Amino acid sequence: MVSVTPDELRGWLDVLEPDRRAHSLEVGRKVQSVQTLVGQGLREDLVTAGTLHDIGYGYPDTGFHPLDGARLLAREGFSPVVCSLVLRHSASMIEAEERGIDLAVYGDFAVNDDLAAAHQLVWWADMTTGPTGETVTVEDRLDEIATRYGPEDLVTRFIRRARPILMASCQAPGGSIQVSA
Ligand SMILES: [Fe+2]
Repeated sequence: MVSVTPDELRGWLDVLEPDRRAHSLEVGRKVQSVQTLVGQGLREDLVTAGTLHDIGYGYPDTGFHPLDGARLLAREGFSPVVCSLVLRHSASMIEAEERGIDLAVYGDFAVNDDLAAAHQLVWWADMTTGPTGETVTVEDRLDEIATRYGPEDLVTRFIRRARPILMASCQAPGGSIQVSA
């Protein structure tokens, strides 16, 4: 049994635009619906990270939202597992490279636990939830991001590079995943 729900965390999302709030809540609900795919001790952190994975957009510092979110959550006392799941969500390390961010920051949020299954569920939920919370295919999700940011944007370059790994990792809950950095 999990002791936190996306709705209980929604106050944290007030800082986000309404669309992104809806997206975040739906990602939280999706990981909640498959929480039994991870061990009991990880379920609360999984639901928390799914719901708050984009919180960094509300607290811009470096401008790289996975890192801004992980740092905010660490300051607020969330667990290292939550912070690690948020920092590494949806192949963020490839975007970090595109942004020229020193990948050593990932070491600040390393944990010893095997989080691969939990990472996969957050990535799957994020990559199958559109920008207003609707369910979409991974392919449509990636195409929408590229269209929204435009062909020259850094985010589009990131999505182009990350496409094979995201297409392979995010089709369904419980798939395999390679999380580097
Ligand atoms: Fe997201």
